[in-house]
Amino acid sequence: MNKQWWKEAVVYQIYPRSFKDSTGSGVGDLNGITEKLDYLKDLGVDVLWLSPIYESPNVDNGYDISDYQAISREFGSMADFDRLLAAAHERGLKIVMDLVVNHTSNQHKWFMESRSSRVNPKRDWYIWRDGVDGSRPPNKLGSIFSGSAWEKDAGTGQYYLHLFAKEQPDLNWRNPEVRSAVFSMMKWWLDKGIDGFRMDVINLIGKPDEALAISGEPVDPIPNDKLTHTYLQEMRCEALSHYDIMTVGETPGVTASAARQFAGFDANELNMVFQFELMDVDADPKTGKWNQNRYRLSDVKKIMSKWQTELHGVAWNSLYWNNHDQPRVVSRFGDDFCAECRVRSAKMLATCLHLMQGTPYIYQGEELGMTNFPIQSLDDIRDVESLNAYRELVSESAVFSHEQMLAAIRKSGRDNARTPMQWDKTANAGFTTGVPWITVNPNYVEINAEAQVQDSASVFSYYKKLIALRKQYPIIVHGDYELLLPDDERLFVYHRCFEGRTLLVFCNFSGETLSRPSGTGFGRGSLLISNYAETELAAALVQPWEATVYLT
Ligand code: GLC
Repeated sequence: MNKQWWKEAVVYQIYPRSFKDSTGSGVGDLNGITEKLDYLKDLGVDVLWLSPIYESPNVDNGYDISDYQAISREFGSMADFDRLLAAAHERGLKIVMDLVVNHTSNQHKWFMESRSSRVNPKRDWYIWRDGVDGSRPPNKLGSIFSGSAWEKDAGTGQYYLHLFAKEQPDLNWRNPEVRSAVFSMMKWWLDKGIDGFRMDVINLIGKPDEALAISGEPVDPIPNDKLTHTYLQEMRCEALSHYDIMTVGETPGVTASAARQFAGFDANELNMVFQFELMDVDADPKTGKWNQNRYRLSDVKKIMSKWQTELHGVAWNSLYWNNHDQPRVVSRFGDDFCAECRVRSAKMLATCLHLMQGTPYIYQGEELGMTNFPIQSLDDIRDVESLNAYRELVSESAVFSHEQMLAAIRKSGRDNARTPMQWDKTANAGFTTGVPWITVNPNYVEINAEAQVQDSASVFSYYKKLIALRKQYPIIVHGDYELLLPDDERLFVYHRCFEGRTLLVFCNFSGETLSRPSGTGFGRGSLLISNYAETELAAALVQPWEATVYLT
């Protein structure tokens, strides 16, 4: 058993724009985060991952970076960052930064130079190609944010590649100067004392020849190109290996077996990756995340169990239900309709995830059971992905009507996660004294941190307890995993085993009272945690949204 601090840690993700505004600008900032460190310490998390805080024109809320070594003026200054880092370290909290190096902003000086002429020394820092017949994109590679991944640049007449918005041109990792510039920037941050990186779409940095070829033909996505592994090993050797840090790669499209290449204990690449199979469990073959499909629990179990067993002993899992790109977990996999169902299902979902093997990630507000936002009109939407998808699927191709698309965005849009953190029941949930950049969810009056921190029955207190259990019981970190009842569409039951002990995790993913299946070990051993009082648990029945955990 290989002990490393990041295997025992719990990570909390902060989306700075929506966390806490200390100035009244309507946008969260670094001093706002510093103000709330004691809240995070009280919750018990070990690591804070900050979504990008660098200078950015904010086409994609900071995931389009125009200067990697400057703090966005909206968020404060480098001195504010240094204070935040020191204050976090004083409390034993680590800070992990978002590293967005598949692409830059089109306002980054590297890109401005690159686009200025075909012979500029930085021309080859980005990916430029001639069009087909001078007027069509080089090939049919699509952008993840709708439309073609190629944009024609009027000045030089060539097309540049952008896998995301056209304001996010992809860096050319084949160029050694690009790699060395990125590695020295990373070392600059590491030398400041940060504790690691979450690497944005890092599996897309290596682009196979076919993706870049001028052919006019469709191109498959590029989730696991061998070049990516070469670059990551070089990154490890040049930058990462000199520091005691954690790294997690965001890797859309990566399978569990590919994850062993990225995050294998002997891979010399990353410590862990974020898988997307679970997030895609209800995706539609034609319209992707934009749909009204409901997940099937048997699929959720199959995916989670596959990652648990295929990585056990050879690589490390990350565990998440939520982040700034996903709808709120309680609205998606639980029930946010009535207050009691919301609280019970939020706790059940937390139990199910936190008792698996891997490093758990909590996204701001998840620990309060925050819900999706009931958007009413296009005016409520801020996210470039939703706005582009609306343009493509409603205005351009009429795949959806206006109402259908709004319903799809209400279900799956990224703004659901980006509404301000709900601190208390005062105006704007205590997030800002100004006008918030995005509307506050009106349910803040009931769902807020102030109401939950002192309440031992709250979702917050339950997360606190789950985090504390992970610190107390090595079985949660190290045990192996076995799924029971794989085909049951309401119950998710699994065992974890370690050094002769067994943890039984029993979760009801429905609001129904069920009869308790025999042979699952219910009631054996001591009750570690439940979202019902011990006296409410019945040997013959499973309560709505029940989560119970026993240790023998
Ligand atoms: C990642 C980020 C997302 C961003 C995209 C492009 O998926 O999580 O928010 O839009 O990369 O950087």
